[in-house]
Amino acid sequence: MSTVLITGGAGFIGSHTAERFLAEGWTVHVVDNLVTGKRENLPAGVTFHQHDIRDAAAAELVASLQPEVIVHLAAQMDVRKSVADPVFDASTNIVGSLNLLEAVRHRSPRTRFVFSSTGGVLYGDHTVPPNVETFPKDPESPYAIAKLSVELYLAYYARVHGLDTVALRYGNVYGPRQDPHGEAGVVAIFCGRLLEGRPLTVFGDGQQTRDYVYVADVADATWRAATRTLPAPALLDARAFNIGTGVGTPVLRLAEVLSAAADRAPQIEFAPKRPGEQQESYVDVAKAARLLDWRPAVTLEDGLARSYAAFAAQHASRQPLTRTS
Ligand SMILES: NC(=O)c1ccc[n+]([C@@H]2O[C@H](COP(=O)([O-])OP(=O)(O)OC[C@H]3O[C@@H](n4cnc5c(N)ncnc54)[C@H](O)[C@@H]3O)[C@@H](O)[C@H]2O)c1
Repeated sequence: MSTVLITGGAGFIGSHTAERFLAEGWTVHVVDNLVTGKRENLPAGVTFHQHDIRDAAAAELVASLQPEVIVHLAAQMDVRKSVADPVFDASTNIVGSLNLLEAVRHRSPRTRFVFSSTGGVLYGDHTVPPNVETFPKDPESPYAIAKLSVELYLAYYARVHGLDTVALRYGNVYGPRQDPHGEAGVVAIFCGRLLEGRPLTVFGDGQQTRDYVYVADVADATWRAATRTLPAPALLDARAFNIGTGVGTPVLRLAEVLSAAADRAPQIEFAPKRPGEQQESYVDVAKAARLLDWRPAVTLEDGLARSYAAFAAQHASRQPLTRTS
């Protein structure tokens, strides 16, 4: 039986990724410090280790498990927080990643290391989407700089130390259990507003596009990237894959489709465009189709309906029970 160690497995994407590996019969270990993750996100059958990825205990875990695969998802994933505190961002997102990579290099060198990078904010605003993996990178936040830095480290560890590394550049991932602070936080925010009967706030003219990809599709791509034979990982982009839909959806369209799924007609409030916000961002996914044999299977309509249903169930379970007697 093969073993995977998922860092950040108590979080949004991590818990879905754990489910995907369990479904394939893998032994699944999760390491998470629960800073944003939750124990209740962990599917039955995983072994949980509560450590910080920056600590020696996380490196020891890598050495003792000798997993076939590490899926490294643990991160400070709030772009605005990275702007407010770039030192903290780098300590988790760069130094924490290096702690794991050093553990692999010295104590588990046959482990494949799959890293969760970003396709949403890596290419910046100076390319014409859909962004292809080899396009110039122009990260505009400490969060995106940290993701690109770790990708450069992955290429270094592959070239110099022969490690088996992969970078997955996720689009804006949405679905059940997502946090409103992540890259696709707008779906969670809109779901909350719809459930409370409040207006939806749209910044700028609402025509800015994002590549919204459903979390189960992302978990499937991650499992494939962990298990396929791949090209040699020598250069920065050789082992990088965009994981999105290839479609740029304007935020106004997202609001429309989600409102239809919720069967509500909310008021839309327009607010000034946020400084530094990218206008267009979506990725080309031909490489993942070719080398991972992966294509997103869930449509925006279906994915948003599933997400809204999950948020509605969660919302209902939090409401105080009204007694009639
Ligand atoms: N959600 C998106 O749209 C999106 C897009 C691109 C990339 N990503 C990346 O995917 C990964 C997972 O994101 P998510 O949306 O599931 O976020 P999330 O916050 O739900 O998951 C991150 C997990 O990491 C854990 N964690 C944070 N710091 C840690 C530390 N120092 N030690 C141990 N555990 C720690 C958290 O407790 C949490 O469970 C992140 O690396 C994120 O940058 C997400």
